[in-house]
Amino acid sequence: MNLILMGLPGAGKGTQAEKIVDKYQIPHISTGDMFRLAIKEGTELGKQAKSYMDQGELVPDEVTIGIVRERLSKGDAQEGFLLDGFPRTIAQAKALEELLGDMDKSLDYVLHVDVPQEQLIERLTGRRVCPTCGATYHVKYNPPKQEGICDKDGSALIQRDDDKPATVKKRLEVNIEQTQPMLDFYQDKGYLAKIDGDQDIDQVFEDIDKKLRGLSE
Ligand code: AP5
Repeated sequence: MNLILMGLPGAGKGTQAEKIVDKYQIPHISTGDMFRLAIKEGTELGKQAKSYMDQGELVPDEVTIGIVRERLSKGDAQEGFLLDGFPRTIAQAKALEELLGDMDKSLDYVLHVDVPQEQLIERLTGRRVCPTCGATYHVKYNPPKQEGICDKDGSALIQRDDDKPATVKKRLEVNIEQTQPMLDFYQDKGYLAKIDGDQDIDQVFEDIDKKLRGLSE
């Protein structure tokens, strides 16, 4: 199963990705997570990515395409993958198309998690993440059992640097501009499946799962 998960910042891509990979046992390939890991490890890639991420801008296409190309060539991606947050520009989408062609693979679905823009700021500013395992929570919509503590490993939860209000606004602007051309691109190719992301988390997953069960039956 070869999938892309699309949606504006805060739409719930990471939240749904956790559930999809758990059920369908495919690797979760999130460019945002890869950049955050590189920043944490202090690599050259991390230094490069940080300057863009802190401003709410996209990391340049050539850098992003390079890390996805490398990741998709790994053994665990040969039987399927879930791309989260990639592609985000038409140049990235075309590069992915070429890459999959070279690998003799094609997409099954581009799942577009659609949420009204006015809800995204609240979702992003209320998000808390686990610095150890990456689990995502929300202070109101998806709180941990004990305030500020990860249910899975007991770490103290943190707020992502780019979830501060000024950066959130810029991220939304940048992504809104890029999204419609991407939706048109995948609609024309027949891969697009719109998912109503304005429902509770389990209901969103139920809708995604209904689509995916059709593929695996
Ligand atoms: P990335 O990490 O991909 O961030 P993003 O796209 O901005 O998406 P988010 O992770 O913010 O949101 P999400 O949709 O995963 O929502 P979540 O599930 O956490 O990218 C970060 C940066 O890296 C970019 O700005 C860019 O600089 C760079 N980058 C990454 N990919 C790139 C690329 N391809 N090209 C160039 N640059 C790239 O949910 C959000 C909150 O809402 C959580 O608190 C959650 O608990 C809550 N929530 C989730 N679902 C629901 C629901 N149904 N109801 C209520 N609350 C919900």
